[in-house]
Amino acid sequence: MSRQSLLAGGELAANRAEGSGRLRSITAALASVLATILAVPASGAEVDERTLDDLIRRMSVADKLGQLQQFGTDGNTGELLKGQEELLAQGQIGSFINARGARYTNRIQRIAIESSPLKIPVLFGYDVIHGYRTIFPAPLGMASSWDMKAIEQASAIAAREASAAGVRWVFAPMVDIARDPRWGRIIEGAGEDPYLGSRAAAAQVRGLQGATLGEPGHVAACVKHWVAYGAAEGGRDYNSSEVSERTLRGVYFPPFRAALDAGVGSFMTALNELDGEPATVNSFTLGQVLRKEWKFDGVVLSDYQAVEQLIDHGVAKDGEAAAQMALKAGIDVEEQSEMFRKHGATLLQEGKVSQARLDQAVRRILRLKMKLGLFEKPYVDEAIEHAEILCAGNLAAAREVAGRSMVLLRNEGEILPLKPDVQSIAVIGPMAVNPQDPLGPWFADGKKEETVTLLAGIKARAAKAPNPPKVAYAKGCEAVGDSREGFDEALRVARESDVVILAIGEPSDQSGEAASLASLDLPGQQLALAQAIKGTGKPIAVVLLNGRPLTIGWVAENIPAILEAWYPGSQAGNAVADILFGDVNPGGKLPLTFPKTVGQIPLYYNHMNTGRPAGDFKYTSKYADIGNQPLYSFGFGLSYTRFKLDNLALSAKTIPVGGRLEVSVEVENVGPRAGDEVVQLYLRDEVASVTRPVKELRGFERIRLEPGERRTVRFTLETMDLGFYDRENRFCVELGRFKVTVGDSSEGGLDATFELVRR
Ligand code: BGC
Repeated sequence: MSRQSLLAGGELAANRAEGSGRLRSITAALASVLATILAVPASGAEVDERTLDDLIRRMSVADKLGQLQQFGTDGNTGELLKGQEELLAQGQIGSFINARGARYTNRIQRIAIESSPLKIPVLFGYDVIHGYRTIFPAPLGMASSWDMKAIEQASAIAAREASAAGVRWVFAPMVDIARDPRWGRIIEGAGEDPYLGSRAAAAQVRGLQGATLGEPGHVAACVKHWVAYGAAEGGRDYNSSEVSERTLRGVYFPPFRAALDAGVGSFMTALNELDGEPATVNSFTLGQVLRKEWKFDGVVLSDYQAVEQLIDHGVAKDGEAAAQMALKAGIDVEEQSEMFRKHGATLLQEGKVSQARLDQAVRRILRLKMKLGLFEKPYVDEAIEHAEILCAGNLAAAREVAGRSMVLLRNEGEILPLKPDVQSIAVIGPMAVNPQDPLGPWFADGKKEETVTLLAGIKARAAKAPNPPKVAYAKGCEAVGDSREGFDEALRVARESDVVILAIGEPSDQSGEAASLASLDLPGQQLALAQAIKGTGKPIAVVLLNGRPLTIGWVAENIPAILEAWYPGSQAGNAVADILFGDVNPGGKLPLTFPKTVGQIPLYYNHMNTGRPAGDFKYTSKYADIGNQPLYSFGFGLSYTRFKLDNLALSAKTIPVGGRLEVSVEVENVGPRAGDEVVQLYLRDEVASVTRPVKELRGFERIRLEPGERRTVRFTLETMDLGFYDRENRFCVELGRFKVTVGDSSEGGLDATFELVRR
């Protein structure tokens, strides 16, 4: 087989192994594909650079440094701290984090506009990760929907609420690929896969920003954390990452690139170090890739206190050195720590940072403000905030998206949906009543008082049934802790009911930032509670609320029905009840792998084959005690109905470079109810100049089918979809054979092969 690699730089290079000849140019077709993929997106609203020049000319050094500083406020209320109003009146504050609310931000803005000499509006930033006040499912949950329209809609609603409250810059999307569920922040991203992660990243940017920066009702997004933060060694937050350049380019970079291509307004650097340099000042990721190769000329924001933490990393001897390094490396705005403001003037005087670099950073933040239209319209309309926040439409959307995000992991004996004639339901478990947990660890301005708990949702839905079943509740135990005092009461309630809904999982504060765990077992006495309830012989459905894959082997084997609900947001209870009662048929799929045990981590579907792929033979790559099989695979999820996939067809057995391949498959709903299936397309490059994963997601579509309905799902593969990073870390496509697999998860499926050939 002749193989050849086509370099994305416009060059065709010979395959190393086969040594075939070098071609001079790529085809016009491939060139246009490349142009689409590699082009830097057009910027948003027009900015008058001359007005900017003029403004920058009139600014003092202190004014400029103020723009480069993002000031912390009270972490909970967002109220300004002592001395900040005075600084604002002097025009020396560029942006705030956490200050919010139309009336409050207008009051603050008025100081900047009415009292400061240059009247530069201040920008309010906030972590709006999955909703502002109406909280949507946590990002990992939203990714489980495999529904990009739903994700975009949720982000757009988050943007509308945030902007109505004066917040115009949000620190989202978080697009870190994570292959280690010990890392608490795995909940904030879209899981383990770069393709799904890229699609979710783009959808979020579109939803948050609209088509161009500055659209009313939208905000500037800030994609984070650049980069490899999710690769923290051992899953320990803030820990070092050790990742090869090819893996960076092939796995960790793509969602950021997708956000950039969607027009993202800013980047936030990560807190980790990578290959000897903190991400805040990393010459490769920030200097070479983001600024030079990708030509990103927008704002780069440091993460919280990360500039000052260059001292702890041991690369800066003091604050002045830290500020110098960060400014030189390309950080434009410093979040929270104030090294720029404290040391910027000295650095300038001593020639350690140039005037040009300072002005460049100032220009970027001012340009962002201009694009957002802040100069023309610095204030927000307080009436809009009132009408927008938590409005019925937003709550309905949160309920719908939450339903679409849940994943049915098991349903033996069709325990779910609950039978229409059920007379009594026992709701048991600590996760059923706590209103905080469903909001997840990043809940912005979400309020637990506004959350529908699982118990409340189940009760409300039960009451609407033609013959309303009785709903009784017992907690059984706390989510954490040793006490089993509540077991007896829980057992009594279970015995007196037809069916048990057991709500267990992780409290939300055990997930998210600085919540790395060494054990992924159900915390506290929850497993013991499940085991005790199982002893009653009652049919049980477990509802899991959690922020990461848990090692729930016993539950997976012994509890007949399991619904993964993640942290579903403000409408948690209603959305869970929709599924339990069958008003909504679950159709979510896992965006990451569930290991059987912590010792298997890292465990992800798109691994390399190795020279000794796992098999029965002893000397193969596997765990001798437990094997390599996960508990649940990437892409897995059940439904109340069943689907059959057949007739996989390719438009050709060969495609020429620059050409495209149509892949089609027929999907039929062969079960009793309408439902959704996520049809997934995976590729494998069978032989390449570098080792390639056993399969990689390259397409998916979530479709809805009525019972008996049959539909053809079509995918188009472009030449670029077959590419990867070669030995020199250049993007390339190589001639040769590929396997395409279409299925309902990353396991199994229908296979076919095709060949990429020279034109
Ligand atoms: C987190 C960021 C977040 C920032 C501001 C940091 O600790 O890493 O994700 O945007 O705080 O709240």
